[in-house]
Amino acid sequence: MSLGELQIRNVRCIRTAQVELHPRCTLIWGGNGAGKTSLLESAFLLGRGRSFRSRQTEQLVHRAAPALTVFGRTGGPLPHAIGVEFDREQGITARVDSQNVKSLADLSLAFPVQVIDPDIHKLIEEGGRRRRRWLDWAVFHVEPQFGEAWFRYARALRQRNAALKGHPSQARPWEAELAEQGARMSAARRTVLERLEPYWTAIVAAVDCPKAHIGYVQGWSEAVSLADALETVRSRDESRQTTTVGPHRADLRITIDGKPARDTLSRGQQKLTAAALTLAQLRLLADSTTAMPTLLLDDPAAELDAEHQAGFVAEILRLNCQLVITALQPQIPGFTQPDRVFHVEQGDVRPV
Ligand SMILES: Nc1ncnc2c1ncn2[C@@H]1O[C@H](COP(=O)(O)OP(=O)(O)OP(=O)(O)O)[C@@H](O)[C@H]1O
Ligand SMILES: [Mg+2]
Repeated sequence: MSLGELQIRNVRCIRTAQVELHPRCTLIWGGNGAGKTSLLESAFLLGRGRSFRSRQTEQLVHRAAPALTVFGRTGGPLPHAIGVEFDREQGITARVDSQNVKSLADLSLAFPVQVIDPDIHKLIEEGGRRRRRWLDWAVFHVEPQFGEAWFRYARALRQRNAALKGHPSQARPWEAELAEQGARMSAARRTVLERLEPYWTAIVAAVDCPKAHIGYVQGWSEAVSLADALETVRSRDESRQTTTVGPHRADLRITIDGKPARDTLSRGQQKLTAAALTLAQLRLLADSTTAMPTLLLDDPAAELDAEHQAGFVAEILRLNCQLVITALQPQIPGFTQPDRVFHVEQGDVRPV
Protein backbone atom coordinates (compact mmCIF):
# COMPACT_ATOMS: atom_id res chain seq x y z
CA MET A 1 0.00 0.00 0.00
CA SER A 2 1.18 3.53 -0.65
CA LEU A 3 -0.16 7.06 -0.58
CA GLY A 4 -0.34 8.72 -3.98
CA GLU A 5 -2.30 11.93 -4.21
CA LEU A 6 -2.14 14.16 -1.14
CA GLN A 7 -4.14 17.40 -0.88
CA ILE A 8 -3.62 19.73 2.05
CA ARG A 9 -5.53 22.79 3.18
CA ASN A 10 -4.62 24.98 6.14
CA VAL A 11 -2.21 22.68 7.91
CA ARG A 12 0.12 25.04 9.84
CA CYS A 13 1.87 27.27 7.27
CA ILE A 14 0.53 25.30 4.27
CA ARG A 15 -2.56 27.14 2.97
CA THR A 16 -3.00 24.80 0.07
CA ALA A 17 -0.88 22.08 -1.51
CA GLN A 18 -1.38 19.18 -3.86
CA VAL A 19 1.33 16.59 -4.38
CA GLU A 20 1.61 13.17 -5.99
CA LEU A 21 3.89 11.05 -3.83
CA HIS A 22 6.02 8.37 -5.45
CA PRO A 23 5.28 4.76 -4.39
CA ARG A 24 8.97 4.33 -3.48
CA CYS A 25 10.84 7.37 -2.28
CA THR A 26 9.79 11.02 -2.20
CA LEU A 27 12.05 13.78 -0.87
CA ILE A 28 10.60 16.98 0.56
CA TRP A 29 13.34 19.56 1.01
CA GLY A 30 13.47 23.15 2.20
CA GLY A 31 14.86 25.45 4.89
CA ASN A 32 13.90 25.68 8.54
CA GLY A 33 10.26 26.54 9.07
CA ALA A 34 9.42 25.99 5.38
CA GLY A 35 6.65 23.45 6.07
CA LYS A 36 8.34 20.03 5.59
CA THR A 37 7.18 18.53 8.88
CA SER A 38 3.73 20.04 8.32
CA LEU A 39 3.47 18.03 5.10
CA LEU A 40 4.42 14.83 6.94
CA GLU A 41 1.94 15.64 9.70
CA SER A 42 -0.77 15.93 7.02
CA ALA A 43 0.03 12.46 5.66
CA PHE A 44 0.15 11.04 9.20
CA LEU A 45 -3.24 12.58 9.97
CA LEU A 46 -4.78 10.51 7.16
CA GLY A 47 -3.75 7.23 8.78
CA ARG A 48 -3.91 8.14 12.45
CA GLY A 49 -6.38 10.99 12.88
CA ARG A 50 -3.83 12.98 14.87
CA SER A 51 -0.37 14.54 14.60
CA PHE A 52 2.86 12.88 15.73
CA ARG A 53 4.11 16.25 16.94
CA SER A 54 1.31 17.71 18.96
CA ARG A 55 -1.41 16.30 21.19
CA GLN A 56 -3.77 19.11 20.23
CA THR A 57 -4.87 18.86 16.62
CA GLU A 58 -6.08 22.44 16.96
CA GLN A 59 -2.45 23.58 16.81
CA LEU A 60 -2.24 22.17 13.28
CA VAL A 61 -4.94 24.44 11.92
CA HIS A 62 -3.54 27.51 10.13
CA ARG A 63 -3.93 30.35 12.58
CA ALA A 64 -6.15 32.39 10.26
CA ALA A 65 -8.41 29.48 9.26
CA PRO A 66 -11.39 27.84 11.00
CA ALA A 67 -10.52 24.31 9.86
CA LEU A 68 -7.98 22.12 8.12
CA THR A 69 -8.64 19.39 5.58
CA VAL A 70 -6.42 16.67 4.21
CA PHE A 71 -7.39 14.34 1.42
CA GLY A 72 -5.42 11.34 0.15
CA ARG A 73 -5.66 8.39 -2.20
CA THR A 74 -3.88 5.15 -1.49
CA GLY A 75 -2.81 2.70 -4.19
CA GLY A 76 -2.26 -1.04 -4.16
CA PRO A 77 -4.74 -3.93 -4.29
CA LEU A 78 -7.26 -2.15 -2.02
CA PRO A 79 -7.21 1.54 -2.93
CA HIS A 80 -8.95 4.04 -0.64
CA ALA A 81 -9.93 7.70 -0.74
CA ILE A 82 -9.45 9.19 2.73
CA GLY A 83 -10.53 12.61 3.94
CA VAL A 84 -9.85 14.11 7.35
CA GLU A 85 -11.17 17.46 8.49
CA PHE A 86 -10.52 19.20 11.77
CA ASP A 87 -12.73 22.15 12.60
CA ARG A 88 -12.01 24.31 15.65
CA GLU A 89 -15.70 24.14 16.63
CA GLN A 90 -16.75 20.65 15.49
CA GLY A 91 -13.56 18.71 16.11
CA ILE A 92 -12.49 15.90 13.81
CA THR A 93 -14.44 14.12 11.09
CA ALA A 94 -13.01 11.48 8.80
CA ARG A 95 -14.25 9.61 5.76
CA VAL A 96 -12.96 6.53 4.02
CA ASP A 97 -14.41 5.99 0.54
CA SER A 98 -17.12 8.58 1.29
CA GLN A 99 -18.30 6.79 4.46
CA ASN A 100 -17.96 8.51 7.82
CA VAL A 101 -15.62 6.45 9.97
CA LYS A 102 -16.75 5.29 13.40
CA SER A 103 -13.33 5.04 14.99
CA LEU A 104 -9.76 5.92 14.20
CA ALA A 105 -9.12 2.20 13.74
CA ASP A 106 -10.83 2.50 10.35
CA LEU A 107 -8.26 5.12 9.30
CA SER A 108 -5.45 2.88 10.49
CA LEU A 109 -6.71 0.02 8.34
CA ALA A 110 -7.19 2.21 5.27
CA PHE A 111 -3.72 3.77 5.51
CA PRO A 112 -1.07 2.23 7.78
CA VAL A 113 1.57 4.89 8.41
CA GLN A 114 4.51 5.16 10.80
CA VAL A 115 6.97 7.97 11.48
CA ILE A 116 10.54 8.39 12.65
CA ASP A 117 11.18 12.01 13.58
CA PRO A 118 13.80 13.90 15.59
CA ASP A 119 11.63 13.50 18.73
CA ILE A 120 11.59 9.70 18.54
CA HIS A 121 13.86 9.46 21.61
CA LYS A 122 10.76 10.44 23.61
CA LEU A 123 9.60 6.85 23.12
CA ILE A 124 12.37 5.90 25.57
CA GLU A 125 12.44 9.04 27.68
CA GLU A 126 8.82 10.01 28.28
CA GLY A 127 5.89 8.34 30.06
CA GLY A 128 4.02 5.16 29.21
CA ARG A 129 1.34 6.73 27.05
CA ARG A 130 3.62 7.09 24.05
CA ARG A 131 4.93 3.49 24.40
CA ARG A 132 1.42 2.05 24.75
CA ARG A 133 0.32 3.85 21.62
CA TRP A 134 3.43 2.70 19.76
CA LEU A 135 2.81 -0.91 20.78
CA ASP A 136 -0.94 -0.84 20.19
CA TRP A 137 -0.59 0.38 16.62
CA ALA A 138 1.42 -2.76 15.81
CA VAL A 139 -0.85 -5.05 17.86
CA PHE A 140 -3.85 -3.65 16.03
CA HIS A 141 -2.32 -4.62 12.67
CA VAL A 142 -0.88 -7.98 13.69
CA GLU A 143 -3.63 -9.37 15.99
CA PRO A 144 -7.01 -8.98 14.27
CA GLN A 145 -9.14 -9.33 17.44
CA PHE A 146 -7.27 -6.58 19.28
CA GLY A 147 -9.25 -3.69 17.76
CA GLU A 148 -12.57 -5.00 19.05
CA ALA A 149 -11.18 -5.78 22.52
CA TRP A 150 -9.63 -2.31 22.70
CA PHE A 151 -12.87 -0.63 21.61
CA ARG A 152 -15.01 -2.56 24.11
CA TYR A 153 -12.48 -2.02 26.90
CA ALA A 154 -12.35 1.74 26.24
CA ARG A 155 -16.14 1.95 26.31
CA ALA A 156 -16.44 0.02 29.60
CA LEU A 157 -13.63 2.12 31.09
CA ARG A 158 -15.43 5.36 30.21
CA GLN A 159 -18.62 4.03 31.80
CA ARG A 160 -16.92 2.85 34.98
CA ASN A 161 -15.04 6.14 35.35
CA ALA A 162 -18.25 8.12 34.83
CA ALA A 163 -19.95 5.98 37.49
CA LEU A 164 -17.05 6.49 39.91
CA LYS A 165 -17.52 10.25 39.57
CA GLY A 166 -21.32 10.33 39.93
CA HIS A 167 -22.78 7.06 41.21
CA PRO A 168 -20.06 4.78 42.65
CA SER A 169 -22.55 1.94 43.18
CA GLN A 170 -22.94 1.70 39.38
CA ALA A 171 -19.23 1.13 38.78
CA ARG A 172 -19.24 -2.57 39.55
CA PRO A 173 -21.42 -3.84 36.66
CA TRP A 174 -18.73 -2.70 34.17
CA GLU A 175 -15.99 -4.73 35.78
CA ALA A 176 -16.79 -8.07 34.11
CA GLU A 177 -16.47 -6.49 30.66
CA LEU A 178 -13.29 -4.63 31.67
CA ALA A 179 -11.77 -7.84 33.00
CA GLU A 180 -12.65 -9.86 29.91
CA GLN A 181 -11.58 -7.31 27.28
CA GLY A 182 -8.58 -6.22 29.35
CA ALA A 183 -7.31 -9.79 29.47
CA ARG A 184 -7.75 -10.12 25.68
CA MET A 185 -5.84 -6.86 25.11
CA SER A 186 -3.06 -7.94 27.39
CA ALA A 187 -2.71 -11.36 25.77
CA ALA A 188 -2.57 -9.81 22.29
CA ARG A 189 0.10 -7.31 23.38
CA ARG A 190 2.21 -10.08 24.90
CA THR A 191 1.94 -12.16 21.74
CA VAL A 192 3.13 -9.27 19.61
CA LEU A 193 6.02 -8.47 21.94
CA GLU A 194 7.12 -12.11 21.78
CA ARG A 195 6.94 -12.04 18.00
CA LEU A 196 8.85 -8.76 17.93
CA GLU A 197 11.79 -10.22 19.87
CA PRO A 198 13.65 -11.98 17.00
CA TYR A 199 13.25 -8.88 14.77
CA TRP A 200 14.58 -6.72 17.58
CA THR A 201 17.62 -8.98 18.11
CA ALA A 202 18.37 -8.91 14.38
CA ILE A 203 18.06 -5.14 14.06
CA VAL A 204 20.24 -4.48 17.12
CA ALA A 205 23.05 -6.36 15.39
CA ALA A 206 22.44 -4.71 12.03
CA VAL A 207 22.43 -1.09 13.22
CA ASP A 208 24.79 -1.56 16.17
CA CYS A 209 22.51 -0.11 18.80
CA PRO A 210 22.40 -0.88 22.53
CA LYS A 211 20.64 -4.20 23.21
CA ALA A 212 17.80 -3.01 25.38
CA HIS A 213 15.50 -5.54 26.98
CA ILE A 214 11.83 -4.90 26.29
CA GLY A 215 9.52 -6.12 29.06
CA TYR A 216 5.76 -5.78 29.39
CA VAL A 217 4.17 -4.28 32.49
CA GLN A 218 0.52 -5.18 32.26
CA GLY A 219 -1.01 -2.47 34.44
CA TRP A 220 -2.09 -4.59 37.40
CA SER A 221 -0.46 -7.15 39.71
CA GLU A 222 0.88 -10.19 37.84
CA ALA A 223 -0.31 -12.37 40.72
CA VAL A 224 -4.04 -11.84 40.25
CA SER A 225 -6.65 -11.66 37.49
CA LEU A 226 -7.85 -8.25 36.35
CA ALA A 227 -11.27 -9.01 37.86
CA ASP A 228 -9.67 -9.57 41.26
CA ALA A 229 -7.45 -6.51 40.89
CA LEU A 230 -10.50 -4.32 40.14
CA GLU A 231 -12.29 -5.76 43.18
CA THR A 232 -9.29 -5.03 45.40
CA VAL A 233 -8.91 -1.39 44.33
CA ARG A 234 -12.61 -0.52 44.19
CA SER A 235 -12.71 1.64 47.30
CA ARG A 236 -9.47 3.39 46.29
CA ASP A 237 -10.92 3.96 42.79
CA GLU A 238 -14.06 5.40 44.37
CA SER A 239 -12.09 7.96 46.31
CA ARG A 240 -9.88 8.81 43.30
CA GLN A 241 -12.89 8.74 40.98
CA THR A 242 -10.97 6.86 38.31
CA THR A 243 -9.92 3.32 37.39
CA THR A 244 -6.36 2.85 38.58
CA VAL A 245 -5.60 -0.67 37.27
CA GLY A 246 -5.89 -2.29 33.85
CA PRO A 247 -4.20 -2.38 30.45
CA HIS A 248 -4.77 1.38 30.03
CA ARG A 249 -1.99 1.65 32.65
CA ALA A 250 0.31 -0.84 30.93
CA ASP A 251 3.83 0.10 29.87
CA LEU A 252 6.93 -1.24 28.21
CA ARG A 253 9.90 -1.54 30.52
CA ILE A 254 12.95 -0.77 28.39
CA THR A 255 16.12 -1.65 30.28
CA ILE A 256 19.86 -2.07 29.75
CA ASP A 257 21.45 -4.51 32.21
CA GLY A 258 18.39 -4.17 34.40
CA LYS A 259 18.53 -0.34 34.52
CA PRO A 260 15.98 1.92 32.82
CA ALA A 261 17.28 2.84 29.35
CA ARG A 262 16.23 6.45 29.89
CA ASP A 263 18.75 6.76 32.72
CA THR A 264 21.68 5.09 30.99
CA LEU A 265 21.53 5.97 27.30
CA SER A 266 22.73 9.21 25.72
CA ARG A 267 20.24 11.19 23.69
CA GLY A 268 21.71 9.90 20.41
CA GLN A 269 21.60 6.32 21.72
CA GLN A 270 17.98 6.80 22.79
CA LYS A 271 17.16 8.03 19.33
CA LEU A 272 18.95 5.10 17.71
CA THR A 273 17.23 2.62 20.04
CA ALA A 274 13.76 4.05 19.46
CA ALA A 275 14.29 4.20 15.68
CA ALA A 276 15.61 0.62 15.67
CA LEU A 277 12.60 -0.56 17.70
CA THR A 278 10.36 1.05 15.13
CA LEU A 279 12.21 -0.65 12.27
CA ALA A 280 11.83 -4.00 14.07
CA GLN A 281 8.14 -3.26 14.42
CA LEU A 282 7.80 -2.48 10.70
CA ARG A 283 9.68 -5.65 9.76
CA LEU A 284 7.27 -7.68 11.92
CA LEU A 285 4.33 -6.02 10.18
CA ALA A 286 5.85 -6.69 6.76
CA ASP A 287 6.05 -10.42 7.57
CA SER A 288 2.67 -10.76 9.28
CA THR A 289 0.27 -8.49 7.42
CA THR A 290 -0.60 -7.80 3.80
CA ALA A 291 -0.39 -4.01 3.99
CA MET A 292 3.11 -2.62 4.31
CA PRO A 293 2.99 0.76 6.09
CA THR A 294 4.28 3.99 4.61
CA LEU A 295 7.26 5.32 6.56
CA LEU A 296 7.67 9.06 7.11
CA LEU A 297 11.24 10.09 7.93
CA ASP A 298 11.53 13.60 9.28
CA ASP A 299 15.10 14.84 8.97
CA PRO A 300 16.67 11.38 9.39
CA ALA A 301 20.21 12.77 9.32
CA ALA A 302 19.75 14.65 12.59
CA GLU A 303 21.91 13.46 15.49
CA LEU A 304 23.24 10.16 14.07
CA ASP A 305 26.95 9.74 13.34
CA ALA A 306 27.97 8.58 9.84
CA GLU A 307 28.48 4.93 10.79
CA HIS A 308 25.12 4.53 12.55
CA GLN A 309 23.46 6.51 9.80
CA ALA A 310 24.72 4.04 7.18
CA GLY A 311 23.47 0.97 9.08
CA PHE A 312 20.16 2.64 9.72
CA VAL A 313 19.65 3.64 6.07
CA ALA A 314 20.50 0.12 4.86
CA GLU A 315 17.81 -1.33 7.14
CA ILE A 316 15.26 1.22 6.00
CA LEU A 317 15.92 0.42 2.35
CA ARG A 318 15.56 -3.32 3.10
CA LEU A 319 12.01 -2.65 4.33
CA ASN A 320 10.95 -1.98 0.78
CA CYS A 321 8.14 0.34 1.85
CA GLN A 322 7.02 3.74 0.63
CA LEU A 323 9.27 6.45 2.06
CA VAL A 324 8.55 10.15 2.42
CA ILE A 325 11.69 11.88 3.63
CA THR A 326 12.42 15.47 4.60
CA ALA A 327 15.82 17.14 4.43
CA LEU A 328 17.32 20.61 4.59
CA GLN A 329 19.18 20.04 1.30
CA PRO A 330 18.12 18.76 -2.12
CA GLN A 331 19.64 15.34 -1.34
CA ILE A 332 19.16 13.01 1.59
CA PRO A 333 22.47 12.40 3.34
CA GLY A 334 23.35 8.70 3.10
CA PHE A 335 20.36 7.68 0.97
CA THR A 336 20.15 6.72 -2.67
CA GLN A 337 18.57 9.16 -5.12
CA PRO A 338 14.90 9.86 -4.39
CA ASP A 339 12.38 8.98 -7.10
CA ARG A 340 10.55 12.29 -6.76
CA VAL A 341 11.49 15.61 -5.21
CA PHE A 342 9.47 18.57 -3.92
CA HIS A 343 10.78 21.86 -2.64
CA VAL A 344 8.93 23.71 0.13
CA GLU A 345 9.26 27.40 0.86
CA GLN A 346 6.97 29.34 3.20
CA GLY A 347 4.31 26.66 2.97
CA ASP A 348 4.43 26.56 -0.82
CA VAL A 349 5.13 23.02 -2.12
CA ARG A 350 6.44 22.65 -5.69
CA PRO A 351 7.76 19.71 -7.71
CA VAL A 352 11.43 19.94 -8.63
N1 LIG B 1 -1.14 26.95 13.33
C1 LIG B 1 -0.24 27.55 12.52
N2 LIG B 1 -0.62 28.48 11.62
C2 LIG B 1 0.28 29.06 10.80
N3 LIG B 1 1.59 28.77 10.81
C3 LIG B 1 2.03 27.84 11.68
C4 LIG B 1 1.15 27.18 12.58
N4 LIG B 1 1.87 26.30 13.33
C5 LIG B 1 3.13 26.43 12.92
N5 LIG B 1 3.25 27.35 11.93
C6 LIG B 1 4.46 27.75 11.18
O1 LIG B 1 4.59 26.81 10.17
C7 LIG B 1 5.95 26.76 9.76
C8 LIG B 1 6.21 25.33 9.34
O2 LIG B 1 6.84 24.57 10.26
P1 LIG B 1 7.41 23.13 9.95
O3 LIG B 1 7.66 22.56 11.27
O4 LIG B 1 6.55 22.37 9.02
O5 LIG B 1 8.76 23.48 9.20
P2 LIG B 1 9.95 22.56 8.76
O6 LIG B 1 10.15 22.80 7.30
O7 LIG B 1 9.72 21.18 9.20
O8 LIG B 1 11.17 23.21 9.55
P3 LIG B 1 12.46 22.55 10.27
O9 LIG B 1 13.47 22.30 9.22
O10 LIG B 1 12.89 23.62 11.19
O11 LIG B 1 12.03 21.31 10.96
C9 LIG B 1 6.76 27.35 10.89
O12 LIG B 1 7.32 28.55 10.41
C10 LIG B 1 5.73 27.68 11.95
O13 LIG B 1 5.97 28.91 12.59
MG1 LIG C 1 10.64 20.00 10.59
